[in-house]
Amino acid sequence: MRKKLMMGNWKMNTCLKEAVELASGIKRLLKEDVFEKVSVAICPPFVYLLDVKDVLEGSDIKLGAQDAFYEASGAFTGGISAGMLKDVGCDYAIIGHSERRHIMGETDEIINKKLRACLKEGLTPVLCVGELLNQRESGQTGSVITSQVRNGLKGFSADDIRRMVVAYEPVWAIGTGKTATQAQAQEVHNMIRGLISGIAGPAVAGEMLILYGGSVKPENIKELMSAPDIDGALVGGASLKADSFEKIVKYY
Ligand code: PGA
Repeated sequence: MRKKLMMGNWKMNTCLKEAVELASGIKRLLKEDVFEKVSVAICPPFVYLLDVKDVLEGSDIKLGAQDAFYEASGAFTGGISAGMLKDVGCDYAIIGHSERRHIMGETDEIINKKLRACLKEGLTPVLCVGELLNQRESGQTGSVITSQVRNGLKGFSADDIRRMVVAYEPVWAIGTGKTATQAQAQEVHNMIRGLISGIAGPAVAGEMLILYGGSVKPENIKELMSAPDIDGALVGGASLKADSFEKIVKYY
């Protein structure tokens, strides 16, 4: 049985005070018994990681970053390396989020290097894939996801892939209030699991956590989580309020 993973992606939101309050609120609402059923991580902006880490002391809530640069150190102005993130207490890093692909121009090649850097430093990367609305409407969902997964994972061994998480986030569902139906998400999740099986073998595919992201809310989480290949959620907007994130985490 794969244990579900619920991740909050705060994106470029909160000020320091709000970040500390939000993390404190989430910690207060999520008690020990929750973590027997689900794993939980929150991903604040880089600059608040240490403060949020302090708040999370004594809790099973894990810390994640929203990105990681692929070089270890050096003249890369503005870059934050995977090693730095590990150093301040991160366990996860979101890699290849659609906003980074489409707004910051990240390619599969960059994403591949970032995944490698995360593994080298012992961070669990969450590889995000997802199609645009026009790609879905023109029947290209399968080919887009296939190339994002294949190119993202190029050159990795089965053992490497075992240490990753994948998130399916249809771009048309992110921040739009339009969630994929359970059937739409399940179809793509199942396809991703098949791709992983082809690349890394059925055992790794069977263990792989594949999260869904895109307008996840307390109202739709239960239905999404009842699909056989959906192993958790990457939550944006609804993770910015402690009580709505609590409801999502406690969907069961
Ligand atoms: P959303 O964002 O929940 O606000 O749609 C999800 C994501 O981009 O990870």
